[in-house]
Amino acid sequence: NQHAERQRILDSLRLSREQLLEVKSRMRKEMDRGLAKESHDQAAVKMLPTYVRSTPDGTEHGDFLALDLGGTNFRVLLVRVRGGKRRSVEMHNKIYTIPSEAVQGTGDELFDHIVHCIADFLEYMGMKGASLPLGFTFSFPCHQNKLDQGILLKWTKGFKASGCEGEDVVTLLKDAIHRREEFDLDVVAVVNDTVGTMMTCGYEDPLCEVGLIVGTGTNACYMEEMPNVELVDGDEGRMCVNMEWGAFGDQGELEDFSTDFDRTVDERSTNPGKQRYEKMISGMYLGEIVRNVLLEFTAKGLLFRGKLSERLKTRGIFETKFLSQIESDRLALRQVRSILQHLGLTSSTCDDSILVKEVCSVVARRAAQLCGAGLAAVVDKIRQNRNLPQLKITVGVDGTLYKLHPHFSSIMHQTVRDLSPLCDVTFLQSEDGSGKGAALITAVACRIRDAGQ
Ligand code: BG6
Ligand code: GLC
Repeated sequence: NQHAERQRILDSLRLSREQLLEVKSRMRKEMDRGLAKESHDQAAVKMLPTYVRSTPDGTEHGDFLALDLGGTNFRVLLVRVRGGKRRSVEMHNKIYTIPSEAVQGTGDELFDHIVHCIADFLEYMGMKGASLPLGFTFSFPCHQNKLDQGILLKWTKGFKASGCEGEDVVTLLKDAIHRREEFDLDVVAVVNDTVGTMMTCGYEDPLCEVGLIVGTGTNACYMEEMPNVELVDGDEGRMCVNMEWGAFGDQGELEDFSTDFDRTVDERSTNPGKQRYEKMISGMYLGEIVRNVLLEFTAKGLLFRGKLSERLKTRGIFETKFLSQIESDRLALRQVRSILQHLGLTSSTCDDSILVKEVCSVVARRAAQLCGAGLAAVVDKIRQNRNLPQLKITVGVDGTLYKLHPHFSSIMHQTVRDLSPLCDVTFLQSEDGSGKGAALITAVACRIRDAGQ
């Protein structure tokens, strides 16, 4: 019967509390494996040291350039940080598009384009020829041996410029600057967007020791105790660890929770077998999961009168913003229908609209719960690290899915509360992006460097 068939498919996308607790515990295991020297190389979750050792304290000072590459927008920023009693941060930025040739061509083309944008920005700001210290927010997994180095391990989120994996992105950037022979820049820090977000939010709230991104991709970072960061010598204090949790599941950790829809989305992506957790959570993939579920419903005659339109067979038609729109509470079903029409799915009935909305809701709920289960593992680890019966902590968050989706954030918050009852977690939404945080990190590095000279 049709109703039962419908429920069976939707149920495959629902997770029980026990399953979510299992996700939390497997994430915790992977964190330990990624941190430990002997298991790091095999671990799915890489737990990358960032060489950022403290959160901001308000003494940061100076003028900095920042680049922000890897999310929806590529930005170049000028950040003026004033420390002390009347501390303030003034930011100027310009958004540039990265043409698809640059994302899919050679690394030289990509970095030449980036340098072209920096040159344009300096001219636009009337600062041609200026040579400021630069913080580079580069939101991809990088191996770092120091703050001003980032060896790209693997492209994620659809990027695939050739000749970059295994290379230091600071060198790639500097080489491109030299090719242009117009200005020089002092690249001081390579910063993941999670780390930039944690620092941005940490400037307002000293309890902020976790950074979370739920946008095009998803990832988290947090302050880990140095003795646990086995890849870096020294036992004093803490270091921020870029988890690269999007790769959770790449060794089968999510196999029993994922569906055929997830496998299809993964197989047709630019990086099959990689970033399996990210592909169940983040904005770049949720629409594709929904589309594949709708295809299945249609093929079974449960939707669109069983008629498979060319439109529905087209990859990428469901952008994140449609998911957010469709689930908006104020939206009448009539409007859901008009969104579907806008997508070219013309022959939809009222029942179709109800079902489509339900699919969107189930897929987004699962994403928010999976994300919450991962975050529950992180905050509980921090609590255990510090031997505390109760931990009060703030998570700095950014990303279009988190910010724009009407229910994602509340479901995620609820999941964290439920799965980590001993942690009192506050979520602080970043309004200033990662560039501000990258500038704060650059400021501290410059101060330490200048003091050492
Ligand atoms: C922004 C950061 O605020 O959030 C970016 O500055 C980051 O670097 C982004 O990648 C994540 O969001 P999205 O949705 O653009 O991928
Ligand atoms: C991807 C990247 C990671 C980044 C995240 C959010 O998972 O690998 O570095 O933090 O997307 O943008």
